[in-house]
Amino acid sequence: MKTISILGSTGSIGRQALDVIATYHGDLQLGFLTTNTNAELLAEQVERYKPYGVALCAPEAYQRFRQISSFDGPVLCGKEGIRAAAAWEGNDIVLSALVGFAGVEPTLAAIERGITVALANKEALVVAGELVMAKARHHNVPLLAVDSEHSAILQCTVGEHPDSIERVVLTASGGPFRNLPLEALEQVTPEQALRHPTWNMGAKITIDSATLMNKGFEVIEAYWLFGLSPEQISVLIHPQSIVHSFVEFTDGSVKAQLGVPDMRLPIHYALTYPSRRPTALPRIQWEQLSRLEFEPPDTTRFPCLKLALDALHEGKSAPVVLNAANEVAVEAFIQRRIRFSDIPAVIAGTLDAIPSVALTSLEIVIDVDRHARHKAIALVSHLQQRR
Ligand SMILES: NC(=O)c1ccc[n+]([C@@H]2O[C@H](COP(=O)([O-])OP(=O)(O)OC[C@H]3O[C@@H](n4cnc5c(N)ncnc54)[C@H](OP(=O)(O)O)[C@@H]3O)[C@@H](O)[C@H]2O)c1
Repeated sequence: MKTISILGSTGSIGRQALDVIATYHGDLQLGFLTTNTNAELLAEQVERYKPYGVALCAPEAYQRFRQISSFDGPVLCGKEGIRAAAAWEGNDIVLSALVGFAGVEPTLAAIERGITVALANKEALVVAGELVMAKARHHNVPLLAVDSEHSAILQCTVGEHPDSIERVVLTASGGPFRNLPLEALEQVTPEQALRHPTWNMGAKITIDSATLMNKGFEVIEAYWLFGLSPEQISVLIHPQSIVHSFVEFTDGSVKAQLGVPDMRLPIHYALTYPSRRPTALPRIQWEQLSRLEFEPPDTTRFPCLKLALDALHEGKSAPVVLNAANEVAVEAFIQRRIRFSDIPAVIAGTLDAIPSVALTSLEIVIDVDRHARHKAIALVSHLQQRR
């Protein structure tokens, strides 16, 4: 019996992971489940899935949970509580499914305890890739990709020598605005941006998919996870979201991983790696699959992808600034304070304003993140005043 804790069990990945575990994994028991604010759903999850303990980041949510639940296991609170849940000595696996920068410290806490990490929180690698990978190597901790593209690359490279990889191609659905002209992008609403054509995900990653920033983050994630150079990682738009990514080898062969767009499949693969176990998850209906299309991304209409690629090339703290400004801009867009087309402007302005420094410690990462957020918030206010 192995024990798994889910950081972010009330989110999109967390809820799907609970479904996967309850349906297919008789040999997994639950350690901690965690949330930021959603005490009600966490209380339901406790009743249904019987974890060992829970952690709630927001103090009000902790109080509410205490009022509505009679759970008699450990109930932790605050950032420290989330970190303690990640580093709990009973964990064999931690699924890191927090969104954004909040995932960095708990992910590192699990790694420092030598606990295997199934990683959905790509932002941890975007902002602290070097630290995370160095600690994972030092503690001999496997980092198992949960992102469908990186799971695809993992599946294509099992048994292959790393030197035989020529390049990897990450596929992207293109999001809801794939065919929208540049002028029309100015007018799109949060509701439209939140309606993803092929994937059902949390709000932040759905907006990141609409701007293609998500794909930029994934290039940075692949760079760290697979030890590739930036030139070895390409992006292609593939609207059907059936080919999750592919790997070209030095002999000219190509391996791709295909499947229906359902995150339960890569979650299941990360939890069973390196073996495969049967599931009843949906199958591809080949007879109804009339075409698989691929086209290059348009970075004029979707400049966030280029901003991310540039930040990867620049290195040092540029990806931290990129991520912080993106989090601020996406939130401002969801709150209707800025337009969709302002998102890249806020990020570019922040990148221009914050000098790049070497990331030699987590404290520096946290410091750069704080500075970049202040700058991005100021840029959002400025844009708001001009409207
Ligand atoms: N969703 C997908 O299909 C998908 C696919 C590939 C990769 N990913 C990646 O997986 C990660 C999670 O995405 P998601 O879509 O599942 O996000 P989500 O639905 O927004 O869920 C995020 C989870 O993290 C918790 N959380 C948020 N901020 C927190 C904080 N400051 N402290 C502690 N907990 C916090 C949330 O609690 P509350 O419920 O209280 O907000 C929730 O449980 C992201 O990095 C995303 O890029 C997601």
